[in-house]
Amino acid sequence: MTAGENKSMMMDIAKIALIDEHSIKHWGVTDEEGRHLGWLASQVPKGGLIVEIGTLYGRSTSFIAIGAKKDVRVYAVDCWEGTHYHRMIQAVEYFTKLDLMSKIKIIKGYSTKVAKSFKGSIDMLYIDGDHAYESVKADYNAWHPFIAKGGIVAFHDHVLPKYPGIVKFVTERASKEYEFIAQIGKVWSGKKK
Ligand SMILES: C[S@@+](CC[C@H](N)C(=O)[O-])C[C@H]1O[C@@H](n2cnc3c(N)ncnc32)[C@H](O)[C@@H]1O
Repeated sequence: MTAGENKSMMMDIAKIALIDEHSIKHWGVTDEEGRHLGWLASQVPKGGLIVEIGTLYGRSTSFIAIGAKKDVRVYAVDCWEGTHYHRMIQAVEYFTKLDLMSKIKIIKGYSTKVAKSFKGSIDMLYIDGDHAYESVKADYNAWHPFIAKGGIVAFHDHVLPKYPGIVKFVTERASKEYEFIAQIGKVWSGKKK
């Protein structure tokens, strides 16, 4: 990230800080991880599409949407199951307060099911749904074919002993099909070969 890009991201993130009282600060990504996601999103070309699997309170979604160019769309895919239903309601309120709803499309449903009816091409995929090995693999297999060459994939909770399935999957597959970009905090990212 250049100094200029970093400065502009920091300014936008100050916007998030202004309404931090509406955010569940300790859930989801850290500020450092969020800024990195915002920077990855800023690499998506005009008119591009970003898909996030796992929205919860909407913290990562917000960083991504703030980082993305004006006409880039962010699909926030979440199943809204159980207690997460209420958290998703809070996420939508959060996006509204941040004035991000024009960029974000909320998609309620299971990732693999949603992918079945998806048509088109993705420039960035962020995987942060269920963290079991089989679930990560299913999310990746469902969406990775839509990622354009040079497109980005990112996983949260990589290198967290609690979620060995993510490390296993990235080592086995993603690191072979994507050129490593960075590991920032718990976010692993790569570019499609
Ligand atoms: C770890 S949280 C996401 C945190 C969020 N990215 C953040 O940083 O604020 C995981 C979310 O994934 C959702 N989820 C889990 N499995 C899913 C699936 N198969 N399809 C869609 N959403 C799923 C859950 O409802 C939950 O909201």
